[in-house]
Amino acid sequence: MDRDSLRQYLSFYQDLGVTTLYRRPQTDEQSQMPILPLPGLTPENDTLLKILEDIGDCKRCRLHAGRNKIVFGVGNEQAKLVFVGEGPGADEDIQGFPFVGRAGQLLTQMIENTASKEGIPLKRADVYICNVVKCRPPENRTPEPDEMETCGQFLYRQLSVIRPRAICALGATAAKAVLGRKEGVTRMRGNWFKWNDIPVMVTYHPSYLLRPYNQNAKREAWEDLKKALHFVYD
Ligand code: URA
Repeated sequence: MDRDSLRQYLSFYQDLGVTTLYRRPQTDEQSQMPILPLPGLTPENDTLLKILEDIGDCKRCRLHAGRNKIVFGVGNEQAKLVFVGEGPGADEDIQGFPFVGRAGQLLTQMIENTASKEGIPLKRADVYICNVVKCRPPENRTPEPDEMETCGQFLYRQLSVIRPRAICALGATAAKAVLGRKEGVTRMRGNWFKWNDIPVMVTYHPSYLLRPYNQNAKREAWEDLKKALHFVYD
């Protein structure tokens, strides 16, 4: 097991309240049977409700201090397509739902208009939408690596429970959290990557597309979305 996986295991068990771990020999002394490897990070029979319960009144990282509401996720729990954003903004923090502000309205339009133009009967409520971090970062700053790591375990559990046909990572933070890649979105967008065998499309974050000089990026984002929609719903 490499250092990153070990760190994930330890923080996962810490969140479950396990603070002491013992090293054991490779083989059980009495039975001489090999010790079984650690279980997967996703608990068995996991559900979105269990994840929400585990998050609880979360104080695992500094973001909890400034939040009004935890923004868990919204949409169809059996969605074939999941959109992952960065973190809640002011509107999301007040309402408790992801992508309800200006960027959210653009995302809704992108999903519904593109689908309709492509002859795919799809509404926003048919997909699932969530973020890398569930609490609003102060001044909407980019989440710090340790905040992403702490909250990332819940995102991975959400993705594992839903097991969509594809994931659409919106912007660099989502791409980094889901794929562990640090390249810019401009380089990654429009291409398929994988998270645990699930295809991942990277595209621009809707907030970036709201800036008036980004018309070209808007067209590209529409192309990326078209690709993802046809892949999932054809
Ligand atoms: N930006 C995000 O990344 N997520 C939201 O929920 C809203 C804006």
